[in-house]
Amino acid sequence: MEPILFKHTEIPDLDRLEVYVDHHGYAAFRRAITELQPQEVTQIVSDSGLAGRGGAGFPTGRKWSFIPKSVLPTYLVVNADESEPGAFKDRELMERNPHQLLEGVAIAAFAIGCQKAFIYIRGEFLYIGEILDAAVAEAYAAGYLGQNVFGSGYNIEIVVHRGAGAYICGEESALLDSLEGYRGFPRLRPPFPAIKGLYGQPTVINNVETIANVPHIVRNGADWYRSYGTDQSPGTKVCSISGPVNRPGNYEMNMGTTFRELLEDRAGGMREGKKLKAYIPGGASAPMLPGTEANIDISLSYEGYREAGSSFGSASFIIIPDDVCILRAQLSLSEFFAHESCGKCIPCREGTPWLAKTVRRIESGQGREEDLPLLLDICDNILGRSFCALGDFSTSNIVASVKYFYDEYEEHIRSQACPYAHQARAVA
Ligand SMILES: Cc1cc2nc3c(=O)[nH]c(=O)nc-3n(C[C@H](O)[C@H](O)[C@H](O)COP(=O)(O)O)c2cc1C
Repeated sequence: MEPILFKHTEIPDLDRLEVYVDHHGYAAFRRAITELQPQEVTQIVSDSGLAGRGGAGFPTGRKWSFIPKSVLPTYLVVNADESEPGAFKDRELMERNPHQLLEGVAIAAFAIGCQKAFIYIRGEFLYIGEILDAAVAEAYAAGYLGQNVFGSGYNIEIVVHRGAGAYICGEESALLDSLEGYRGFPRLRPPFPAIKGLYGQPTVINNVETIANVPHIVRNGADWYRSYGTDQSPGTKVCSISGPVNRPGNYEMNMGTTFRELLEDRAGGMREGKKLKAYIPGGASAPMLPGTEANIDISLSYEGYREAGSSFGSASFIIIPDDVCILRAQLSLSEFFAHESCGKCIPCREGTPWLAKTVRRIESGQGREEDLPLLLDICDNILGRSFCALGDFSTSNIVASVKYFYDEYEEHIRSQACPYAHQARAVA
């Protein structure tokens, strides 16, 4: 399979406009604004089956089609926050090929009738923000962005905006608050951003990888895109894999190939002396799965992980080896969610620190009999009751780790100690 998004990334200086243009760069944008109507571009993207790569997998063309035609201005916002543990694909996409993203932004903006687009980038990605700034400046100077692009009458402005580093600001409505200069708090929905988004105007929010696919789809067509992947999950997916494997990193996988291929062929397998105990397929928010042969053979697709009782999410694979205490791993996840809860709603504000405190108590050998039912009860009271999905996310690995590694929880409580105590520092 030839990669789509990473196809040209080995070419030196690909971040420079002239090199990108030499490799079909901006041809799709030119075609879109000189030969196609905005609705035709949306239709091509709908037909391709492209689904959002930020985690939820919502069909991209359908999202664009929700934007009303008669309300102006409309906005496009690219979500480049990427703050979830295990996720690091967007930063490589932006770092290696910034113009691929900018071209996608320009095409998507045209499709939804928007003349001002924002890229909301995680503030800690300082040098990638600079790469984007330089690429935007080059594109303006060459007339690929700005007024009357290619003499078409179409105007497009792109602004790169730095976040201040908060996981909640990856949640699309909190991102909009942050972009408007407020503290990043999720918004009540409805109204959804397509009706009332940035500055109260119709807004599309899409992930970096989603938008980076767009130039390729518009240039090569929906059928070509559907020749990759499965019926339900067309295309490729950039999978991040981290933990004790021989070659951690980002790998663009044809959807429908197996996790085994990612782990063993691309990432070079587990490091010597390590065995797969469990893995999290879709970033910290996705339920972990035990490392059974059946789970290693799951197809890399939305349906594959749904059927296995987890979530493909942003395809951020966190590998947990057999010498790591599941509770210790769970504790770092729970502490992350407690730290990142924005505090707007009570179930998440009160529940996430309570979960972390209870896991910490069990892990440190002070767990009580009633702590296991308590953990599940707190999860029950957060799930579906918090203002945004961050609360739900904080419960998914507790429920999964108790389900699959019940014995390990029990053993901690029974022996009043962590059987892996000597490992605690290694995973802290
Ligand atoms: C707490 C939280 C954090 C999120 N972080 C990100 C993120 O960093 N990047 C991202 O693209 N989507 C993130 N999302 C999902 C976005 O809300 C939204 O669904 C996504 O940006 C839509 O783009 P897509 O349709 O292209 O996937 C997050 C959601 C939640 C609840």
